[in-house]
Amino acid sequence: MPKARHTTSSSVTARFSAAAGTYHRNAKNQRLAAKQLLALLSFSPAPARILEIGCGTGVLTEKLAKAFPPGRIDAVDVSRAMTVKARKRLAGNRMIRWIVADATRLPEKIKYPLIISNCTLHWIAPIKNIIGKLCAMLEPGGILAFAVMTRGTFAELNACRRRTAPRKPARVVLPARDEIKKAVARAGLRLKREKTALIRQTFSSPEKLLKQLHDQGLTGGNIPHRQKALTRSELLRLVADYRKRYRSGRGIYATYRVYYCVAQKI
Ligand SMILES: C[S@@+](CC[C@H](N)C(=O)[O-])C[C@H]1O[C@@H](n2cnc3c(N)ncnc32)[C@H](O)[C@@H]1O
Repeated sequence: MPKARHTTSSSVTARFSAAAGTYHRNAKNQRLAAKQLLALLSFSPAPARILEIGCGTGVLTEKLAKAFPPGRIDAVDVSRAMTVKARKRLAGNRMIRWIVADATRLPEKIKYPLIISNCTLHWIAPIKNIIGKLCAMLEPGGILAFAVMTRGTFAELNACRRRTAPRKPARVVLPARDEIKKAVARAGLRLKREKTALIRQTFSSPEKLLKQLHDQGLTGGNIPHRQKALTRSELLRLVADYRKRYRSGRGIYATYRVYYCVAQKI
């Protein structure tokens, strides 16, 4: 069988590395997702080894270390700058080994009883390949648990973009929930728990929303080089359209659609 192929855009790495200094204080939704993901897990005894994919500044890693002592956590991120922040934040925690690596290139020899990932797998296209790869890295009976942003996230922003710059559609296309579920089944995983949650966050203005996305490294993604950014006047029209259509109190709102999945290797 041919080896699965993945793409990890170097622009994804560059964006997250550039945002390493501002990510942590802006990661409110990621913190919430990490908490909800952990709440779906139950282990007895605690897994001896955990592989975390896309650890970032260690939002989930920190919670894993508290939930599952004294297991070893291999926390992987493709951005060195992110792992530097995480290491500094959680200095001295001997359970955690910080690893700078592209998840799509991890060796499959070492097997884990738990592989977990928060708000990351949707950045690795196509998602079915990374799910297949992570399944290959599980022990028999091992658990893959993840939270991902799915299609429908930032529906408001994408609609504004379609209206104000129809020839420049959104650059990041998030996976749909059904596509993820199909990938899980095809990989040979049995679904144990799943949940979809809508998180609606309010901002004082569309500009504040765009700033937060930038500070989290979420703008950009898999950008083909030929695709052009919005011009200043398109951006101003988008902001005005957003302000008019998606009001909430004195500000505006944005929706995140998060899919949580806990599956077991058959
Ligand atoms: C939105 S952040 C989530 C970080 C953390 N899990 C959290 O919940 O705050 C996504 C992280 O995934 C990392 N990432 C993206 N593609 C990756 C890949 N192919 N391999 C490893 N890490 C990757 C990015 O560098 C970034 O730190």
